[in-house]
Amino acid sequence: MASLTVRQLDERLKKLLRLRAARNGRSVEDEVRTILREAADQAGTEVLENLAPPSARGIAPRGRSTPAEAMRVLLIIGGGIAAYKSLDLIRRLKERGFYVRCILTKAGENFVTPLAAGAIAGERVFTDLFDPAHEFDVGHIRLARESDVVVVAPATADLMAKLAGGHANDLATAVLLATTAKVLLAPAMNPRMWSNKATQRNLAQLVGDGFAFVGPNEGEMAEAGESGKGRMAEPLEIAAAVETLLGRGQSLSGKRVLVTSGPTHEPIDPVRYIANRSSGKQGHAIAAAAAAAGAQVILVSGPVNLPDPPGVTTVHVESARNMLAAVERALPADVAIFAAAVADWRVANAGEHKIKKGKGRATPDLTLVENPDILSTIAHRKSQRPALVIGFAAETENVAANAKAKLASKGCDWILANDVSPRTGIMGGDMNTIEFVTAKGVEPWPPQSKEDVASMLVARIADALRQ
Ligand code: CTP
Repeated sequence: MASLTVRQLDERLKKLLRLRAARNGRSVEDEVRTILREAADQAGTEVLENLAPPSARGIAPRGRSTPAEAMRVLLIIGGGIAAYKSLDLIRRLKERGFYVRCILTKAGENFVTPLAAGAIAGERVFTDLFDPAHEFDVGHIRLARESDVVVVAPATADLMAKLAGGHANDLATAVLLATTAKVLLAPAMNPRMWSNKATQRNLAQLVGDGFAFVGPNEGEMAEAGESGKGRMAEPLEIAAAVETLLGRGQSLSGKRVLVTSGPTHEPIDPVRYIANRSSGKQGHAIAAAAAAAGAQVILVSGPVNLPDPPGVTTVHVESARNMLAAVERALPADVAIFAAAVADWRVANAGEHKIKKGKGRATPDLTLVENPDILSTIAHRKSQRPALVIGFAAETENVAANAKAKLASKGCDWILANDVSPRTGIMGGDMNTIEFVTAKGVEPWPPQSKEDVASMLVARIADALRQ
């Protein structure tokens, strides 16, 4: 700090200081120090007031909550390509009424700018541990203290390692070490970095230390040709995880969700049937994800080799007609998701006894009749139509165009279209690539596991129901 000697002051000021010091029983130097301290305190209070969150200043943060209700999220944006999704995350959190402040790490600044994050958050973005405008009040301690939850997204392998090791050599790690708030990490990294022993060791340490995690998801990486586990969870999933962590109620609590899953079996006779290659993995994953989000879930499942998802009421059926009856019995529901691969036709007169072959016997002619369309039946109901009716479209060509046509003809609200040609491995496989079709248009989702499709869909449903 620059030194200031009383001798350099003009005579009139010196005289005033001497008088004031004598009156207060202090030396002139002590009097100067006292005046400076008082001035700094006054200026500091004003600066602090300007730096305080809008809620503390009586200004309502943008979003739906009143200042008194607004919960404060401190978002730490680490250095990874997924940082671009963190800008959307800020928006999603604000939509939910959170007051959001951001810290951008040095590496994070390579991917997004403080200006972009600050413009979306509507708040100044913090980048430095030693920030002259902020640090006089031990800024990192304040940031740590003034947050209800700290979210690290993307949480890079490096940030996880530093956190597991208790480092505090930059603003992000210092805040993470100083905070007593809940911390949610959304890891994002190359799949080999994620599966590396060191990262897994750090993960185990952090889980043991009480940190919460969302993701990483499985699917394609930003780097061409790379895929596996390591994609950052989608902003909607992270926002839902924040709400759950803060006990603001799970995103689908109080909602009744109906899901169909698996193939149907259409009997030819008591031992033979017509079926398809559906495994039920996608429908079952959706039922599980909806239950995990707090919904009351009824799963109407055709014959599959999967366990019943925990926390879900599962009704087992065989044929399309059984499935329709079970679905109608399960109404009313807030949301219905038709993921089953229902057989379109059944045999007109299924034999009561096993059809026998033999010399002189003709090869049986199977007459097929059309099965009821369960999705269309429910979507066109006059009464008890669920608020949100969601179908799938299994296509082998012109995926988006066929799905758009199905959206209209079946009268549903959304369609998740996928290409089930054998080369995609989707039917029966663990991965799925969805084109999400609504009246607004077609949104391609990234290739990802069926569980990740399920959580993305659940996040979308929660969002739609909220609006
Ligand atoms: N669906 C249904 N009942 C049927 C047939 C299909 O509920 N009898 C539902 C499926 O669960 C899915 C959607 O309708 O949500 C589309 O199914 P899909 O097999 O893609 O199309 P189809 O309607 O069978 O038409 P097509 O076979 O001509 O493609």
